[in-house]
Amino acid sequence: MRKLHRRCVRKPVFRTLAGSVVVCDPELARRVLVDADGHLDHVPAFWRPGGAPLPPPACAALNRWVHARLAAEDPDAAAEVAVEAVAASRGDLHRACLHAVTAANRRPLGLDRDDDLGRTVTRFLDDVFHGMMTGSHRHPDKATFLELAGRAGEALARGAAPGFPDVAPEVRGEVYLRAVTAFVGASAAALTWSICVRQSTDLVDARRPADPVDGAPPEHVALETLRLWPPAWQHRRSVLRDHRVGPLKALRGDEVVVPVHAMQRHPRYWPDAHVFDPGRWSRSPGRPDAFMPFAVGPGACVGAGFEVRWLGAVAKHLAARPPLALARRSAEPCVTAIFSAPEHVIGEGD
Ligand code: HEM
Repeated sequence: MRKLHRRCVRKPVFRTLAGSVVVCDPELARRVLVDADGHLDHVPAFWRPGGAPLPPPACAALNRWVHARLAAEDPDAAAEVAVEAVAASRGDLHRACLHAVTAANRRPLGLDRDDDLGRTVTRFLDDVFHGMMTGSHRHPDKATFLELAGRAGEALARGAAPGFPDVAPEVRGEVYLRAVTAFVGASAAALTWSICVRQSTDLVDARRPADPVDGAPPEHVALETLRLWPPAWQHRRSVLRDHRVGPLKALRGDEVVVPVHAMQRHPRYWPDAHVFDPGRWSRSPGRPDAFMPFAVGPGACVGAGFEVRWLGAVAKHLAARPPLALARRSAEPCVTAIFSAPEHVIGEGD
């Protein structure tokens, strides 16, 4: 990640040895992701059961379902549930955050209606997704995943998640588990960072004394947390048709990569780029072009608006309670498809 960052500071567009075209110029990155001419494949990993993209109407129906389920939720109440759950946890921080965010999403995911679906999701988080998120086992057991997908499919057939779109029965359970990862994966990573930014000061290069984390509006703390520690740290799209990307040619089969983490720390676009400074969001209202934690264009996050309000409320609820007893267990952040905080244990002080 550091190497990528250094290259991005030197060059706004370049090709990696592996053949990806990296675009760190915000204006060009937006044009690339909006993709008015349809050069790229925008179906996110969520909607690719078995690696194959679902047809566009199924993706659209799933996005509408997610959106409708979120619209019925109160971000402040959901944040309070998540913060209380994590504060009551012991052990691995990532695991605690995954379960806390899932607890906050019990209703939208249908877990309040079907105990067996609840147990299936708990096993999925513990035995499959936790390892994928932290990188602690890169090839989770496929047989376990398929068994859990089968159980989730049976629960959906019993009506556990009302309104869940009518995708093919053989992939329904898998698509549901992928929807679970959309609801909880990046949010849980953002929760790990929100906790660490309050307590683990060495993660932050420096703080502006005039803007301590407690004094800033919670939503600005959330935006600044997403700027420095974006859970989706790069946006990748496969190229469907040859086309130009700035000075380079992207060929069918290449990948175009927007390195969000590097862009959101780039000294050309952010004064004091490495400083955690929630106050910057009140000094220049509006979202700068170089801020795109939720991607843009087709395939962009349908939960973005909710997430910013939720994460702001998380900052508020964390500020209102004593710090968690937290011991750091690794020096470096966990970098997989998701970028999350270094390993910590809750319940033990350093
Ligand atoms: C910090 C939290 C979050 C981040 C950083 C994030 C980021 C993203 C990104 C970057 C994408 C595009 C995927 C791609 O490029 O392939 C995406 C898509 C998506 N996100 Fe999020 N997300 C977050 C929270 C949520 C939440 C809370 C929900 C819903 C409950 C959600 C639902 C989705 C869905 C359904 C898509 C697929 C959209 C589509 O197919 O067009 N996300 N998210």
